[in-house]
Order: sequence, then structure tokens, then C-alpha cells
Amino acid sequence: MEMFYASLLGFFLLVVFLSLNFLFYKQKAAANGNLPPGQTGFPVIGESLEFLSTGWKGHPEKFIFDRIAKYSSYVFRTSLLGSPAVVLCGSAGNKFLFSNENKLVQAWWPSSVDKIFPSSTQTSSKEEAIRLRKMLPNFLKPEALQRYIGIMDSVASRHFASDWENKDEVVVFPLTKRYTFWLACRLFVSVEDPNQVSKFEDPFGVLAAGLLSVPIDLPGTPFYRGIRASNFIRKELLTIIKQRKADLAEGKASPTQDILSHMLLTSDENGKFMHEADIADKILGLLVGGHDTASSACASLVKYLAELPEVYEGVYKEQIEIAKSKAEGELLNWDDIQKMRYSWNVACEVMRLAPPLQGAFREAITDFMYNGFSIPKGWKLYWSANSTHKNPEFFPEPYKFDPSRFEGSGPAPYTFVPFGGGPRMCPGKEYARLEILVFMHHLVKRFKWEKLIPNEKIVVDPMPNPEKGLPIRLFPHKA
Ligand code: HEM
Repeated sequence: MEMFYASLLGFFLLVVFLSLNFLFYKQKAAANGNLPPGQTGFPVIGESLEFLSTGWKGHPEKFIFDRIAKYSSYVFRTSLLGSPAVVLCGSAGNKFLFSNENKLVQAWWPSSVDKIFPSSTQTSSKEEAIRLRKMLPNFLKPEALQRYIGIMDSVASRHFASDWENKDEVVVFPLTKRYTFWLACRLFVSVEDPNQVSKFEDPFGVLAAGLLSVPIDLPGTPFYRGIRASNFIRKELLTIIKQRKADLAEGKASPTQDILSHMLLTSDENGKFMHEADIADKILGLLVGGHDTASSACASLVKYLAELPEVYEGVYKEQIEIAKSKAEGELLNWDDIQKMRYSWNVACEVMRLAPPLQGAFREAITDFMYNGFSIPKGWKLYWSANSTHKNPEFFPEPYKFDPSRFEGSGPAPYTFVPFGGGPRMCPGKEYARLEILVFMHHLVKRFKWEKLIPNEKIVVDPMPNPEKGLPIRLFPHKA
């Protein structure tokens, strides 16, 4: 009972806080004149429910396109997650937001994200992201990743042998999650032992759920559990980090074996090395950033390849030629990846139609004008992948699956944005490309498959997930 009242009080305080926030912004907005057209919806929740529910129904783009049509405008006002927000649509909207990072706008995350990732140095997650961004490219750039393709190939082989082979039916989504998680554990911290991996796996799911929850830190809430799970994983990571430091000093570990060695041995421009606790935070951030996105993309690929036999044939032909060119036991390499052109066009078309991230928020750091409308300081801005991906102005017949859109010079700038753009563009883009292509290689060279639920609903919450996890029947190729 006590817990019930405590939860109620927490909720009440949250509502009061958000209401005051809302009224403050409304007053300020009135003073700001020519705001973009739109509605702020109900107090506090604004239009959040409609924004989220179009995703739950599988059509997140409906929220965007209904308003573009209603206001005849590619920029409109709404209120999301307790804050007034402006949605900028089309390639011009994307270009504007991507090009004005730290000039007019800066990244913004819901407060639950900041609380689950408190930095050990007490800096905000924004500053942390800047530090992380400076150091990541060295590990995640294509040249550096080349040497990890063989490792990805071996991890994928083990994953398929244990979770797909000798099975008539599988449920795909939990498996793509496991694949991307195994890979991250191996490439980020060299954790390979399945027992050790599974020690992280469950708390990791709890953490991910906490990130997207209402930030009420009371026993029993997903947020409360998320914070505890994140503390547990951080503690485990710290043990691994300490051990690695000792192993590196004794020459028992290699400086290039994973991102952890890289972080321990790379200093910043002032010659300073990162603290162990910072490294743990950053690795946790990478695991979160890279895990659900790539597993959603892999699951969507399985869905589309089941539905489109001619596309499957094209991918199969390309991948089997590569498989046949390899000697027994020879691992995939950079040249093989370069030959997977059609497969990557297919993956891009999948991410156009089912972008793992629907968009992201920014915050106005000053008052400014956009398209003749005033945007007040402190308002949130949102770019949406669907505003271009599913817009016939940028992709004719947008719901038609057509990988040839990516041939030649491909889509126009700022129209295909599954990885965002500008200074905050996903630093894991190339890593994601490799893990997706290696996954496709292993999948199609082994199997054909069919969906067991032909019209299975896709729920976008916040990433596209098949409602029942995408059960399929496998048909192994004859040897
Ligand atoms: C298909 C897979 C992926 C997709 C679609 C994706 C998409 C995105 C997008 C759209 C953003 C930018 C959000 C914004 O504009 O604020 C982003 C940021 C980020 N991604 Fe990815 N991502 C993927 C995989 C990965 C992987 C594998 C990693 C790690 C290895 C990763 C790490 C990050 C990080 C750390 C950020 C934050 C960067 C910052 O704020 O400066 N992502 N991702």
C-alpha cells in the first residue's frame, strides 16, 4: 500500500512539474509571435499519445503526414514528452537541423536517458557524447573495422550453428537481438563465453526498457529497475576493465583486440587517458546505441526477404558466389564485403521502409527563424526519417520495395537518413553495415524461409518490431 501511495505521489509531482513547464513555454510562445501552424494538444501530454500510438499501430508516418496535409506546411508545431516541439519535415528540414548542430540547436534526450547514464565525471550526457564522438571514429572507421570482419564472420558462424541450424522453425527477433549482442560483447570487450554473455543479456533488456519509461525512481517501476540494471552492468564492466589493464601491462592482451583496449590506450588531445568508470559508461552507451537498432534492421530484412522471392534470389545469387569463392574455413574479408553491393542496396531499402530510429530530438539553444516562423529558445525540434523516406516527393511510389533506388548516385542528399546526418550522424554506421551484411551472408547461404504468420503486425515502439517476434519456417539449402 505504501508503495502505491509513493507511486501516486511521484506521478502527481511529475504532472505538476510538466504542467508548470507547459504553461511557462505557452506564455513564452505567445510572446514569440509567428509560430509554425499546429496544435499543442492536451496539457502536459500534448500530442504524445497520438505520436506514440500511430507507431504502435505500425504507421508512425501517419502522425507526420496528417499534419503536413492539415497545415499545408513542412514545418508544424506540436507538444511531445511534456515540451512544445516543432517538427521539421522534408530534405530541407533534415538539412537545416543537421547543419545547425551547436549553432542553433543541440541534442536533447528525455530525462530518463540522462538518469540511467549518470557520468562518473559528473559531466552531462551531451559533453560525454562529444568526448565519445571524438574517440570513436578511430575504432569505428572503415579502415579500422576491416580487421574485425573475420571476427564478425566467426561469431555469426557460431550463432547460426547454435540457434538456427537443425531447427525447423525459429522466432527471428530474439535471435537477431542475440546475434548483435554477441557481436558487441566480442568486439567491444572480448567477452565470448556464452555464460558471461548471458550474465549481461537479461539486465541489458531491463536497462533498455527503463530508458523508455516514465522517469519515476520508485521500487517496482521500469525506470527503477533500469537504473539498477545499468549499475549492475557497469560494475561487471569495471571488473573486465581492471583485468584488461593488468593483462595489457603484462602483455597478455592485445592493444587492437577490441574497443576496450583502444579506449584504455588512447589519450585525448591533452595527453589524458580516460578513467575506468568513464570507459564503462561509454561502452554501456555503445551497447545501447548499437544493439536494438541493428537487431531491428536484421529482423526487418528477414521479413522482407520472406515476402519478396525475387529480391531473395538476387541476394542469394550474390552471397552464394562469394561463399563459393572461399576456401574451406576461410573467413570473410573486406573485398568480400565490397562485392555485396546488391545486398546492401536491399538492406538500405529495408531501412528506408522500416527505419530502426524514427527520428531524433534537438533543442533550440537560441530564438531563431525557420521558413518565416519563429522558433523559441528551449523548444524541442524533431527530425523524422519518414518525412522523406515515405514521401513520394523524394521516393516515387514510396511503399514499393525497390532496391534500385540505391544504384548509381542513389537518393538525393538529406532524403535517406536512417543514420541521421551532420555532426551527430550515427558513429556506428559502418559497424552496422558490416554486421548486417555478415548476417545476410550467413542467413541466405544456409536457408530459404517462410513467415508462419503471413500478415504479422509490425509495432513501432520505438523501433519496428514484429508483434509476435517473426516466427518463420526454415528450409535449409541442399548441400
Ligand atoms: C542499423 C543500425 C543503426 C541505426 C539505424 C542507427 C541510427 C542512429 C541515428 C539515426 C543516430 C543519430 C540520432 C540523432 O540524430 O541524434 C544514431 C546515433 C548514435 N549511434 Fe547509431 N544506429 C545504428 C547502429 C549503431 C551501432 C552499431 C552503434 C555502435 C557501435 C551506434 C552508436 C550510436 C551512438 C553512440 C550514437 C550517438 C551519437 C551522438 O549523439 O553523437 N549506432 N544512430
